[in-house]
Amino acid sequence: MKGHILKLLRAENDVVSGETLSSHLGISRVSIWKHIKKLRDVGYDIQATPKGYRLINDPDILYPWEFGDRELKIHYFDEVTSTMDVAGNLARNDSPHFTVVIAGRQSKGRGRLKRNWLSSEGGLYFTIILRPQIPPVFISRVNFAASMILARILHNMFHIDARVKWPNDILVNERKVAGLLSEMEAETDLVTFINIGMGVNVNNDPTLREPMAVSLKKIMGRNISRKQLLSEFLDEFENRLNNDTLDNVISEWKSYSVTIGRQVKIVTTHDEYKGIAMDVDNTGALILKLEDGSIKKIIYGDCFHT
Ligand code: BTN
Repeated sequence: MKGHILKLLRAENDVVSGETLSSHLGISRVSIWKHIKKLRDVGYDIQATPKGYRLINDPDILYPWEFGDRELKIHYFDEVTSTMDVAGNLARNDSPHFTVVIAGRQSKGRGRLKRNWLSSEGGLYFTIILRPQIPPVFISRVNFAASMILARILHNMFHIDARVKWPNDILVNERKVAGLLSEMEAETDLVTFINIGMGVNVNNDPTLREPMAVSLKKIMGRNISRKQLLSEFLDEFENRLNNDTLDNVISEWKSYSVTIGRQVKIVTTHDEYKGIAMDVDNTGALILKLEDGSIKKIIYGDCFHT
């Protein structure tokens, strides 16, 4: 109901009477007032006058009712330890495909390879629970689809040269705008769930702790709507997963890659390799030509462009 009330107030951009709202939405004026009060309590600037209600200002907070039909599958928290923790619990308790957990801040945001992910106010932090019908060997295609789609959206929305670094970082001018972490549970040949967590530097400033990171706000010189960015991403990503086998996603990802053809250093928990990134194969592994000319297939690791 809150989403519908906001839609009417936004469309009018003027005072809307309680009577109009109540007849459009089929609820009493008292119920309208209760919803308005709740919206005001959580940060919407809604003026109440004798003639009705007027929306003065929208906060860029990612409440479930901001996402239309998705509302029932969105869980929003002002702060959590990590959206991966919450989504993991929900997934193990049978939450459906494409449930989304969003947080305003994370006190223990996680990055790849056990790193911390700085998660201060203004950034976009979310995890999507997926139950795809994909054999485990090809499951990384889901990650490649997510990072490629986010890069494409950044291109289209902001006309910036967003690129992907293997495996799933998103860079603009070599500086990191977004990262992706996935956690999966599977039985022998069936993925039970894969949770895709994404952190996007939107209106936060990540540079104090991560000099090689950058925010969209810094790039664009203005505040960016997280609501709009996340809505676009969820729509495109879900559409792709529901209507496509993902057989071609790696080749599309490659068209955004800044890694292929580059001299790189790969650091894994035990080893370090230097060479030229030749290709990414159809399972998402990086094909590296080492300095002695031999070829090495890398399944995971940290990639540094050198
Ligand atoms: C990386 O580049 O190392 C991956 C960063 C992933 C961060 C996101 S923020 C939302 C979700 N919750 C977490 O704790 N991590 C992911």
